[in-house]
Amino acid sequence: MLDEVLGHLDPRLGVGEDGEAHVYVDATVGLGGHAEAILERSSPDGRLVGVDRDPAALALAAERLARFKDRCVLVHGDFSELRALLAARGLRAVDGLLCDLGVSSLQLDDAARGFSLRADGPLDMRMDPSSPRDAASVLDTIREADLVDALGRLGGERFAGRVARVVLERRRAGRLSTTGALRDAVHAALGRSRAGGIDAATRAFQALRMIVNHELEALGALLAELPGLLRPGGRAVFLSFHSGEDRLVKHALRGLAQREEPPRLRLLTRRAQRPSDAETAVNPRARSAKLRAIERLAEVA
Ligand SMILES: C[S@@+](CC[C@H](N)C(=O)[O-])C[C@H]1O[C@@H](n2cnc3c(N)ncnc32)[C@H](O)[C@@H]1O
Repeated sequence: MLDEVLGHLDPRLGVGEDGEAHVYVDATVGLGGHAEAILERSSPDGRLVGVDRDPAALALAAERLARFKDRCVLVHGDFSELRALLAARGLRAVDGLLCDLGVSSLQLDDAARGFSLRADGPLDMRMDPSSPRDAASVLDTIREADLVDALGRLGGERFAGRVARVVLERRRAGRLSTTGALRDAVHAALGRSRAGGIDAATRAFQALRMIVNHELEALGALLAELPGLLRPGGRAVFLSFHSGEDRLVKHALRGLAQREEPPRLRLLTRRAQRPSDAETAVNPRARSAKLRAIERLAEVA
């Protein structure tokens, strides 16, 4: 949904009222696709701070964005700490913020990262390999009731109780140390390997990944900081691929748009925008995408 993202973010060349260049943050810079488009659109003055918690993604983004190196800085960090990451670079607020949630193709396609259902790898699933707890360690310590809750709430798994029981039994028995073994355990619990054309373990993988990476918690923290992160006239765009994420974004943005006290914000999207049929035909991952955007209103003197 690149066109829609750029349409709402509206990256601009030139300088703001304070005489400073416009500054944009891509809080999930990934492989740098959106960042590249923002830098192109805001050429020759616009600056971009690209944040990601995955150093491997940042290395690839650095190559892709090398030609913009005077206007672009890449930062390893978690967007839940965006305010501090920006402050460390002398920035309080920005003109545009993009958050394209979820995993990248780089993470999904590398079996060694442990996100993949198809290729066997370690039970890792950390977006940031320096974070302390991987999926194996989560499965070693999580209470069965909490896993049942997460499988249902984050994965939408209807048979969460059955899946949690089999997965934890196998883990405790030392029979579950790879993604392949996790997939087999879920298939055994559900008594089938596919449903509706997708692997039956998809929901469990998604839930576990979201626990390992504290995905909803990080998003909640960013949304709580949002008004202070935007300059007057600044805009924020969120792309979600998970109903729980979209719900969090929807409620937070609606709440912000109803605030009586400054800073005042207004919704740029009344409802979530969805990708066109043409886009989902080319990029099936876009199928579940929902875009929402908000703007901080300019202050009236
Ligand atoms: C869908 S990809 C972004 C793709 C990117 N827009 C592009 O054009 O290549 C999501 C990225 O967000 C990163 N990410 C997810 N949660 C994060 C968080 N809390 N803080 C920082 N980065 C995060 C992931 O590591 C991943 O690289």
